[in-house]
Amino acid sequence: MTGDTDICIYAQDDLEDETIEQIARLKRQWWHYPLDEQIKYLKNLPSEDQHIVCLNRHRVAAYLRLTPRSAKINNIIFKIAGLSTVCSDKAQQKKGFGRRIVREASRLIEREHFDFGLVQCDDGFVDFYLKCGWHRSKCDFYVVNDAGRRQAIFREKNVLMYPLKDFRGKEIEIVGDSF
Ligand SMILES: CC(C)(COP(=O)(O)OP(=O)(O)OC[C@H]1O[C@@H](n2cnc3c(N)ncnc32)[C@H](O)[C@@H]1OP(=O)(O)O)[C@@H](O)C(=O)NCCC(=O)NCCS
Repeated sequence: MTGDTDICIYAQDDLEDETIEQIARLKRQWWHYPLDEQIKYLKNLPSEDQHIVCLNRHRVAAYLRLTPRSAKINNIIFKIAGLSTVCSDKAQQKKGFGRRIVREASRLIEREHFDFGLVQCDDGFVDFYLKCGWHRSKCDFYVVNDAGRRQAIFREKNVLMYPLKDFRGKEIEIVGDSF
């Protein structure tokens, strides 16, 4: 990590077109989104979403989105932050940029008094989040659609949490859409 890096947190409505385009191009390195569609998507996200960007020499080197949600556990409502599209530039892997944005998300979660943050990931990324100070959730989570049906279930081994809360063996219902 050099002195050329910087971390920025943008509210949805403060994202500038140039930043949006750089984020879209970065995401496209990993997921096959058409650029125009991705730019439109990023411009139309809910206003409560926040975007954490690591800049290296003024270019977006890593990115994640943080989405506020409510979660119900045993009928108690918690304020949670869902992380999604966590990614860093393919040409700049293992330089610490990914960890910087996840750690920044951890600080934001504490500062803005979220009860906890969640991220769901494939097996191959669990160790990355553990190295960023996140924890295995030790519980399943799911969302319920408008018809009251469970929409998606993520199993505990692929759900990371920060800070760790002891919800062992319980199911977490995310209220609203997945993130
Ligand atoms: C996962 C990702 C964000 C990591 O970014 P990065 O900038 O390379 O990460 P960092 O350099 O900050 O790595 C921090 C630590 O995690 C380790 N690490 C990085 N990726 C890892 C992985 N997939 N599995 C295990 N450890 C990993 C690094 O070696 C480093 O460990 P160290 O401190 O012991 O050296 C990046 O590889 C990526 O964009 N992946 C594809 C996008 C994707 O699928 N994201 C979904 C994640 S849910």
